[in-house]
Amino acid sequence: MYPADGVGEHTEHVLNYYDKTSRKVLVTNIETPFPDGKLIVSRTDRNGVITHVNQPFVDISGYEEHELIGQPHYILRHPDIPKLVFQDLWEVVSSGQKWFGYVKNLRKDGGFYWVYATVVPNVRHGGIVGYTSVRRKPSRIKVEAALATYVEMLNEERG
Ligand SMILES: Cc1cc2nc3c(=O)[nH]c(=O)nc-3n(C[C@H](O)[C@H](O)[C@H](O)COP(=O)(O)O)c2cc1C
Repeated sequence: MYPADGVGEHTEHVLNYYDKTSRKVLVTNIETPFPDGKLIVSRTDRNGVITHVNQPFVDISGYEEHELIGQPHYILRHPDIPKLVFQDLWEVVSSGQKWFGYVKNLRKDGGFYWVYATVVPNVRHGGIVGYTSVRRKPSRIKVEAALATYVEMLNEERG
């Protein structure tokens, strides 16, 4: 949650989550590259609480597996991603459809990593029991384009 001692320059942000909780996060400009040839996978219950993560997820997030399981997925939320992106994600997946998007995630140490995420609902007996997100290495050009859109959206959100 906080950058390790000596990580250097950082900024402080307060994140207000959907469930009305908030937390102060320290953010650095240090990017961890998406590992080549890997997929980063997690599963959540219907409420977005993490129930499963694979090893590449653990490695890139900077958390231990036991620190992730049982936590809301917003533990990875980065202040550079507009709220509307996740509102859209939830609207799409809770209606039973697939969602795709570029997401910048926050590491435990305050650094970040970009992913291209595909989120799908897990359906059993006609009902949604949870969600799975599979993340691939994003192209740099697409990340730059997403970032430009997100900056505009954030400016609008902040008024
Ligand atoms: C399967 C699944 C994976 C998700 N993965 C991420 C993620 O990697 N990073 C992230 O910030 N939010 C992710 N979310 C969205 C979060 O649940 C949450 O909506 C988001 O972090 C914004 O927080 P808020 O809804 O409290 O504002 C995921 C949601 C689901 C259902």
